[in-house]
Amino acid sequence: MLLTIPSLSDLPSAAAAIIAQAGSNKIFLFYGDMGAGKTTLIKSLCECLGTTETVTSPTFSIVNEYIGTDNRIFHFDFYRLKNQSEAFDMGYEEYFYSDAYCFIEWPERIPDLLPAHYVNVKIRVLNDNTREIIIDKI
Ligand SMILES: Nc1ncnc2c1ncn2[C@@H]1O[C@H](COP(=O)(O)OP(=O)(O)OP(=O)(O)O)[C@@H](O)[C@H]1O
Ligand SMILES: [Mg+2]
Repeated sequence: MLLTIPSLSDLPSAAAAIIAQAGSNKIFLFYGDMGAGKTTLIKSLCECLGTTETVTSPTFSIVNEYIGTDNRIFHFDFYRLKNQSEAFDMGYEEYFYSDAYCFIEWPERIPDLLPAHYVNVKIRVLNDNTREIIIDKI
């Protein structure tokens, strides 16, 4: 699926479409340059799932947990991971195989730890406010 998000105000409807497209898939990998809008889109996805908590980048903690209406949500940012064994140390498997939603920024840092099935979300900056998003189920 290809979505164009003209501006920030279009994020809630895009988030709803992405959740619907994913179906029962709950693990999402987000690709895109720094500042492309991964965290901003994840915030909207979390709100779509009913979380009222503040969604911010878990850069220093690696993972944040939020509670949605019917689901737990784990939000990862692996940007600062030095190696994949750090993901083992933080117990990534407990999260990935927990049946909670997992929203993962910088999955490039854990190439050998990705689950068999996931939703790929690629974000591209078209201009200051506009993003193009490509969603593939793997
Ligand atoms: N349509 C849009 N969708 C997403 N973000 C947008 C959009 N328009 C403008 N922005 C802005 O782009 C910036 C995206 O920053 P964000 O922190 O989400 O990027 P990121 O991909 O998570 O970066 P990083 O790799 O550093 O974690 C924000 O300032 C946001 O307000
Ligand atoms: Mg981010």
